[in-house]
This record gives sequence, C-alpha cells and structure tokens, in this order.
Amino acid sequence: MIPFATYSLPQSETRQGLLLVGADGVIGSALATCLRQAGTPFFATSRRVQQPTAQLLPLDLQADPASWSLPAGLGTAYLCAAVCRLDQCRREPEHSYQINVERMVLLAERLAAEGCFIVFLSTNRVFDGRQPHVAADAPYSPTSEYGRQKASAEQRLLAACPQTAIVRLSKVLPANDALLQGWKNDLLQGRAIQPFHDVVMAPVALSSVVSLLRLIGERRQGGIWQITALQDISYAEAARQICSHLGCDPALVQARSYRDAGLHEEIYLQHSTLEVSRLQRDLGLTLPSAQAVIEMTVNP
Ligand SMILES: NC(=O)c1ccc[n+]([C@@H]2O[C@H](COP(=O)([O-])OP(=O)(O)OC[C@H]3O[C@@H](n4cnc5c(N)ncnc54)[C@H](OP(=O)(O)O)[C@@H]3O)[C@@H](O)[C@H]2O)c1
Repeated sequence: MIPFATYSLPQSETRQGLLLVGADGVIGSALATCLRQAGTPFFATSRRVQQPTAQLLPLDLQADPASWSLPAGLGTAYLCAAVCRLDQCRREPEHSYQINVERMVLLAERLAAEGCFIVFLSTNRVFDGRQPHVAADAPYSPTSEYGRQKASAEQRLLAACPQTAIVRLSKVLPANDALLQGWKNDLLQGRAIQPFHDVVMAPVALSSVVSLLRLIGERRQGGIWQITALQDISYAEAARQICSHLGCDPALVQARSYRDAGLHEEIYLQHSTLEVSRLQRDLGLTLPSAQAVIEMTVNP
C-alpha cells in the first residue's frame, strides 16, 4: 500500500498533452504547481487572461463556446473550474447551472471527441448525507443547488463520455488552510473562536487529491472515484483538537450552531463520508484519518 504523500508519478505521464481547466482555483493551482515541479508539460486555462501564451490559455466558460480555443492532441484534461460556493449556486442558479453543467458538459464532449480522457471534479454533496460511507453507485440525492448541478453534470458526462473519471471529493484542506490557521492564531493570542458543532467534514489533504488526480490521469481509469476521510469530524471537534495540541485554554473554543450564524440550511449534512475502498483496491492507496489531516493542515 502506498500512502498518498509518498507517491511519485512515472515519467510516462508526459507521453500526451495535459490540459488543466481552471488553473487559478485551489485544486487547479495545486495541480499546476505539482506538474511544474515534476517537469511535466501541460496547458492550463484561466478566465483571467485575455491573450494566450505558450502554456496559459484564456477560457471563460461563460463566454460564447465558439470563442474557446483548445490545443489539439490532448491525452488528459482535468476539469477543475466551477462555481463552487453553495450560496452562490443558490442565489444564481441559472448562471451557475450554465457554468457547472451546460458549458462543462459541452467542453468535455468537445475534448472527448478528440480522444481526450476527462477527469471531472465533483462532490459528496451529490448525496443528502443521511448515511455515512455512501457507495459510488448509490442513487443521487442532493440537497443543495450546487449538489444538484454536480449530480446533473455527472449524469450527463457519463452518458455522453462513458470513459470519464468522476472524482467526488469531500472537504479539501490545503496546508495552512485559512480557517484553521485563523483559529490557531486566535487561540495562540488567547481569543475565543466559535466553530460549528453541527457541521461536519471528512477532510482530505489537498496533496492527496493532487496525487490521486495525477494517478487517475496517468492510468486513464474512468468511472466514479470517491475520496473522503474514513470518519467525519465536526468543525468544533477539529477546533478542540487544535486547541488541545496548542495547549490553549479549552474554554476558548465556544461551539455554536450554523443556525446561530445565520447560515442557510443547505450547509447541513449529517454525514459527509463516502465509500472509498476503490482507492485501495485499484490503486493501493491509503488515507490518513480526519484527525491526521487536521494536524497536517495546521502544522504543515
Ligand atoms: N475544495 C473543495 O473542498 C472541494 C470539495 C468538493 C468538490 N470540489 C470541486 O473541485 C473543483 C475545484 O474546486 P476548488 O476548491 O479548486 O474551487 P475554486 O478554488 O473555487 O476554483 C474554481 C475555479 O473555477 C474558475 N471559474 C469559475 N467560473 C469560471 C468560468 N466562468 N470560466 C472559467 N473558469 C471559471 C475560477 O476562476 P477564478 O479563480 O477566476 O474565480 C476558479 O479558478 C470544483 O469542481 C469543486 O466543485 C472542491
């Protein structure tokens, strides 16, 4: 078994062109950094640039698809662009549906028609979270507009491009995650924090997600992949873990409900874990516990 952090990709990944759509995002930028460090050539897209350079291509999914200019001969495309915020999808359902479903599927179809292998990033929120460790083939049951859009995109992608890899992620934590780092700083300064006791996460490290994406792209293994921690942890539990690790006063962690913070009901899921046995079965990968991911995030 290979822990995620120590996996290094064979050079064969370079045999065909790679495309990274959404290179400015949290996951897209981490994947770009990893590919760059490995010396793997790739094309990236951004909606922030106007003129193409050798590596960076303009691509705004909101723009007329006739204006999209994509390289030929691509081997694998990672589709990392999306409107990801729950509240934005709820407030702007038509706009976000256009990006997350219509245009994303159109882009994937164009690429797949040229023989490109598609890796599409999705979410545990295609399920309602009533059960833990949801099987990959369980019926869709989203409870938010964001989850409905991702479920819809998945279904359409799998129908149009059956070889596609769908990668369902739970909460992805970068090293030095802003929220957790903010808690750490507050606790060290003796300031109280107010994490939610009724919102859970099954966190995975950003580095693990990047390793998995590269592996799936390299092996061109399609179908549904799920990556979450094996257990959920509430935000309040995570905060208590950090507080205890720092040796700070436990009274500084003043847990509250997301309702008291005025957040919309859509944020609530009883569970956020998915069934992840394919990772070990097909790739020999093991996942760190939720607590270990929290630890790595706060003390990278
Ligand atoms: N991070 C997580 O915890 C998590 C969990 C589950 C699933 N996912 C999925 O993983 C994928 C990547 O997530 P992320 O955390 O990296 O998201 P992110 O940081 O919000 O990045 C999304 C990227 O999409 C780009 N984008 C938005 N609208 C666009 C448009 N009209 N045309 C072109 N690009 C556009 C954004 O561009 P700008 O930078 O210019 O705004 C941004 O770079 C998403 O599909 C998300 O649903 C993430």
